[in-house]
Amino acid sequence: MKKLWTEQYRPKTLTGYVFRDEKQKAQVEGWITSGSIPHLLFSGAPGTGKTTLAKILFNELEIDQYDILEINASRENSIDTIRDKITNFVQTMPFGDIKVVLLDEADYISPNGQAALRGVMEEYHTTARFVLTCNYPNRVIPALHSRCQGFHIERLDKTEFTVRVGQILADEKIEFDVETIDTYVKATYPDLRKCINMVQMNSQTGKLVTPDTADSGTQDYKLEMVQLFKAGKISDARRMLCTQARPEEMEDIYRWMYDNIELFAKDEEGQDKAVLIIKQGLVDHSFVADPEINLSATLIKLGRLAA
Ligand SMILES: Nc1ncnc2c1ncn2[C@@H]1O[C@H](COP(=O)(O)OP(=O)(O)OP(=O)(O)O)[C@@H](O)[C@H]1O
Ligand SMILES: [Mg+2]
Repeated sequence: MKKLWTEQYRPKTLTGYVFRDEKQKAQVEGWITSGSIPHLLFSGAPGTGKTTLAKILFNELEIDQYDILEINASRENSIDTIRDKITNFVQTMPFGDIKVVLLDEADYISPNGQAALRGVMEEYHTTARFVLTCNYPNRVIPALHSRCQGFHIERLDKTEFTVRVGQILADEKIEFDVETIDTYVKATYPDLRKCINMVQMNSQTGKLVTPDTADSGTQDYKLEMVQLFKAGKISDARRMLCTQARPEEMEDIYRWMYDNIELFAKDEEGQDKAVLIIKQGLVDHSFVADPEINLSATLIKLGRLAA
């Protein structure tokens, strides 16, 4: 079976990892030079490199593979299992200097469950370090925040994001054009994992194809939406968005529109207007009874602007 590009191209060392800013890079380098890490809490949107960074740290710190315990909190069924696993693991002597527990998606653990981890973190702090990752830091209880150094991973710059995807395609010797990559980037940004996965799915013939020429059943509606927007068919895009977007996604869609402002206007003046329309839509979103109608109304306004 073919390897997943997201795994194959997951950087293993610091050199392959793209940082959002120099300060964060310096911080991570500092940990590596000093040979130790505090308990850490990585936060950030899905697919922005939290798990990758944790693994790079373990690798650069040369932590023995038997001294690493990885737990995905969203997959384990109960906090008792999680706690038992961790306790059993940290109780034994490390092979190297320390043991590390990578607790992925810690925000999926109930507040009571999280509270149960406090004691373990404290009791074994001389031999074990915890690296927690989460999408929503506000769902992690203050007691854990206070035990960990927070590290927020900002979304990559869109150009860096695009370059990274293009680099993978080039390494795989896949034929592609900039316009097609751009469609995938717009549909997935800032989730690099999703972008890499989609692009892999659509380049099986050795050429990166646009979603409409590929098998469409499995495609994300956002891709189709980007294509409609790009073609200036805003009312079709609006119809699609309002029928496909799940209610809990709507807020993210405003953010997405904001990130892709150039879809609605080419010049700066138009883009400023588009930003205002989107901001107003987002503010109204929290107050109106029917968020779908509000989204629809926002898109109608954007459509008029683009026309
Ligand atoms: N900063 C980065 N530099 C290089 N590659 C990256 C970066 N961020 C993400 N990637 C790529 O994207 C993929 C997904 O990253 P990763 O699994 O670390 O995301 P995550 O932040 O842990 O997401 P989730 O919240 O969904 O668990 C990786 O396989 C890696 O190839
Ligand atoms: Mg992860």
